[in-house]
Order: sequence, then C-alpha cells, then structure tokens
Amino acid sequence: MSAAPHRPASRDVAGGDFAARVVAWQRRHGRHGLPWQGQRDPYRVWLSEVMLQQTQVTTVLAYYARFLQRFPDVATLAAAPLDEVLAAWSGLGYYSRARNLHRCAQTVVDHHGGRWPEDAETLAGLPGIGRSTAAAIAAFCFGQRAAILDGNVKRVLARSLGFGDDLASTRHERALWIRACELLPADAADMPAYTQGLMDLGATVCLTRKPNCLLCPVQDACVARQEGRPEAYPVKSRKLKRTRRENWWLWLEAPGAVWLQQRPPTGVWAGLWSLPMFDDEAALDAASRGLGIAPEPQPRVEHALTHFDWTLHPRRALLPGQLDLASQLGAGRWVPLDALHQLGIPAPLARLLAATSPAPSARA
Ligand code: ADE
Repeated sequence: MSAAPHRPASRDVAGGDFAARVVAWQRRHGRHGLPWQGQRDPYRVWLSEVMLQQTQVTTVLAYYARFLQRFPDVATLAAAPLDEVLAAWSGLGYYSRARNLHRCAQTVVDHHGGRWPEDAETLAGLPGIGRSTAAAIAAFCFGQRAAILDGNVKRVLARSLGFGDDLASTRHERALWIRACELLPADAADMPAYTQGLMDLGATVCLTRKPNCLLCPVQDACVARQEGRPEAYPVKSRKLKRTRRENWWLWLEAPGAVWLQQRPPTGVWAGLWSLPMFDDEAALDAASRGLGIAPEPQPRVEHALTHFDWTLHPRRALLPGQLDLASQLGAGRWVPLDALHQLGIPAPLARLLAATSPAPSARA
C-alpha cells in the first residue's frame, strides 16, 4: 500500500484541538464505571492494564474481581507462590503476563519498598510493563503527561493524522510515538480522561472494520475520513505467519487423580501443569508399552494460539493406583481432581478434565 502524505506535526489535527475534543467526548460518552476506574490505586490500575493487554474487557471483569479477592495488594501478590498466581490466571492465556506480574510485584516490594514509582520511565523498567502500559499507569494514577500507544490507539492516531507509513518499521513507529506525545493535553489534570478517551475511541468507535465515524469527536478533522478510507490505516506490512502443530497427550489417571507435569519455564504454556506430551503417536505408544498400558484415543482438542493452530490428541488410561511414573515419564505428580483449581492449567486441558466423566477401567 502506498504511504499517504504526512501532515506537519502540530498540536491540532487539521485545525481542531484534538486533546480537548477527546477529553470532552470521554467525559460525556466514554466508558465509566469499570471497576478499575474512579480510583488511583496503582496496584489495581496496573493489574487491569496487564489483564487488558491481550484480553477483552468482558472477559477481564470476572478475573479481575477474583484476582483482587485472592491478592488484594502488591505485598500479598509478591509473597504468593507462582503456582497460585498462575492458577488465578488460568484461562486468561498469555501466561508470561502472569509470570511477569508476579516478578513485577516482587520487584516493587523488594526494590521500591512496596511503593509504585510514579514516572512512566521507571514504571517501564519493571517486568511486563511496556512503554504504553507504563504511560497508562502514570496518567491514570499520577496525572503524568505520558503518551500511550497500544494497538487500538495506533489505529486512532494513524487515522486522525493520516499517518500512512508502515508501522512494521521501528523508525515509523518511533515517529508515531513522537506525534502521540505532541497531541497530549497541556493540562496534566486532563490526562486520565484523555488516556481513557483514546482507549474508548479505539475500542468502541474507531473500529478496525466499519468504524463509526459519525460518533467520533474528531471526525471532521480526521485525515483518513477526509480521504474516505479510514480502513486503510494503520499500515502494517508484516503479516503473522500461522503454522500448524500436532502433539499427543498421555492422559493417565488413578482413581480421583491425574498425572501432570510442569511445562518448561519458557515456550508455550511455560510453567503450567499439563499432561505428558509427545511429538508423534509412535513416541506415545512406546512410552505406553513401557508402562504396560494401552491408552484409548479420545476426541482431539483444537486450540488456536497467536502463532499456530494446535491439534492435541489425548490418549487416556486408568491405572490401578498412584504409581510413581517419574522414572519412565520424567518429573511429574499425581494431582487430585478436586485440587486442579489450585494449579495453573492450560484452559483447553482444564476444560477437557472438567468435561469428562471418570476414566475407563484399566486395560493392561
Ligand atoms: N484496554 C486497555 N486499558 C483499558 C482501560 N483502562 N479501560 C478499558 N479498556 C482498556
């Protein structure tokens, strides 16, 4: 796609005061009453921003309340075992967020005496807090004049400004950051409404497809709208190449318990508890023969991750008791079925285990 010409940098978008319009619109038409709004507690704001990084508001709502009940403040979260944090995160996906959340809480407690830094730069140095999340916390909690630029806001600004350079390039992305800083309200007191306003516009008006331009407070100033092609922005050339993956799951149960292994600390589902996994059926068959069992095929599980579609083939067997399987299968443990909720378990496995009736009888 050809790049649209840039407008010269200015505080206004084509003559209007961009920030003032966004602020006024947010106060009248933006989202209010979300549980992380209307207060300035950095712990609560940080938690909401991390949960919202890759997850929709409606999904986050239930998790947010439950998480706060279990971990009401940064000290409680820092002192909790990682497994409990992963368990509370179970189902939200992108578990590196939960691991970073835990590390970040520990850093705030250990290196900042339990007090959150107030400036965006220091916040951005904490685990799991990128530049945009840091700015959101600084703006919401401390009224700092710091620019956010998450995926939704890139779309709002690229369209408003007619910013047509390819955001796959770091240089162009940096240029958009500079424009985002230039557009900030002069009055720091407007920062919470402005920041929320950009997020609300991106989530409810300036949609990827079929944006509701007639509801937009900057419609008459928006370059993309003037050009009649809002959907042409933002330009981002690098396409995610999706691949497929297939694995086999050995699903071993003893009465009332299932054998789980903790996944390695990096990679997909890092640190979560899952069934022993094999790259092909022959490898699973060999392990089964070693255990003297003939596990039964179960309906396959399809799971979509960011970079690939995953097909998992469960093979299930019931053992007469809780034999020590570690020497044959590697480290693992028998987890009582009524204690599964205490561990971080990948959502598709949690669904599989919850949906199935007791195992078939043992077959040698
Ligand atoms: N997405 C990211 N941050 C958000 C917030 N504070 N409110 C609503 N949606 C968001």
